[in-house]
Formats: sequence, structure tokens, C-alpha cells
Amino acid sequence: DSSLVIAVDGTSGSGKSSTSRGVAERLGLRYLDTGAMFRAMTWWLLREGIDVRDAAVVAAAAHRPRIESGTDPLAPTITVDGVDVSVEIRSHEVTAAVSPVSAVPEVRARLLQLQREVIGEGGIVVEGRDIGSVVWPQAEVKVYLSAEPDARAERRSAEQGGTDVASTQQSLLERDRIDSGRATAPLTMAEGAVHVDSTHLTLVEVIDRIVGLTGHVA
Ligand code: C5P
Repeated sequence: DSSLVIAVDGTSGSGKSSTSRGVAERLGLRYLDTGAMFRAMTWWLLREGIDVRDAAVVAAAAHRPRIESGTDPLAPTITVDGVDVSVEIRSHEVTAAVSPVSAVPEVRARLLQLQREVIGEGGIVVEGRDIGSVVWPQAEVKVYLSAEPDARAERRSAEQGGTDVASTQQSLLERDRIDSGRATAPLTMAEGAVHVDSTHLTLVEVIDRIVGLTGHVA
């Protein structure tokens, strides 16, 4: 079914990206990484020299950057004003600033509109924090992906070429705290979401489980 929408939400470092890309690839669907859009907004604010801790200034600037996401699960791309920033948005600086930026309602409103445009007619796996709750509550399949903090920190630190596990864990938990505590579209398990704990599962097992959920969709 090419109009299928699969929403994958969850905590930082729970494996949402690898899982979502794998599911999209397996089912021949498009893929949207909404976290990359928030990171792109944050990258642009930092580059403009805007104080990302000043919510009023961030709110006033949020309409300015043109952010575009590719939807190929094999080659996800994200551009700001036509420039590919796929690598830059993964920097420490962006990661440390993205959660406060994402708590600003004007930022969310702007990106929500872009996200809904990309989802369009469906046929897509969308990952984020508020996809099943706010962006696309009508998604046929909703997954809440989690993993124990030790597992998340170890995986993320390995991905980054062996960064310190303790400080990686601290940074993941700090983002979870801000993302879950904000007033607008906090990270939460959406109504109708299936909880998958990936702590003791391999990537393929998680992908299989989610692909299995689509079997029940008419
Ligand atoms: O998924 P990723 O870790 O790259 O997301 C980066 C940040 O973007 C999150 O920590 C969160 O603050 C924000 N985000 C969000 N809503 C989404 C996706 C990401 O607030 N749907």
C-alpha cells in the first residue's frame, strides 16, 4: 500500500534512524528524518550568530531558512538554502543546542508544515518525537522505540568512533529530559503506538517486528 504512513518516535539514540531507514528500504517506502530538520534549523541559527537560548529571537528567525529533505532511505539528504548540511548537522555544537531550539513553538509550527508537505500522499516512514502524536496522528502504524540508556550510549559512542560513553549518555539523557518536558509536542508514547524496546534486539529483529506490524493494516 503506497499510502501507508509509519510513524517511529522515541528517545534519543534508541535506533530510530537505522530502524526507520531499514523498514523503508524493505517495504519500498520513502523516509523522512524530522530530527534532521530540527538540526538543520539549529545549524542555520548558529551560523547566523543567533543566540539559540533566546526563545524570542529564535521564534522571530524561524521562518527564514529554506529547509529541504530528501526522502531516499538509502541516501538521506538535508539542505538549507540549497546547501547540503548532512554532515554539519551531526556536530557536537548542533547536538547540544537542538533541544532548546526544538522547544520553541514557532520552530515547531514552521517545520510541522514542511513535514506534512513531505508526507503528502503517504508511502513513507517518518521518524521523530511527535510524529504519532502531532504530525500524523492518523498514521496506520505507530511505533515507540526505546532502549535502556547504557545500550543507547554504547551504540551511539561506537557510531561516533568511540567517544566517551559516560558523556554520550549524559548528552542523550539531557536531550530526552528537554524533549519530554517541553510544553509543545513533547516526546510521548502516542495513542495507539506499539512499544518496542530494542535493548536486547538486533537491528534486523527490530525491523522485522515493525514490518510485521504492517501486516495487520488493511
Ligand atoms: O532524532 P534526532 O536525535 O536527530 O533529533 C534531534 C532533536 O530534534 C531531538 O533531540 C529533538 O529536540 C528534536 N526533534 C523534535 N521533534 C521531532 C524530531 C526531533 O523535537 N519530531
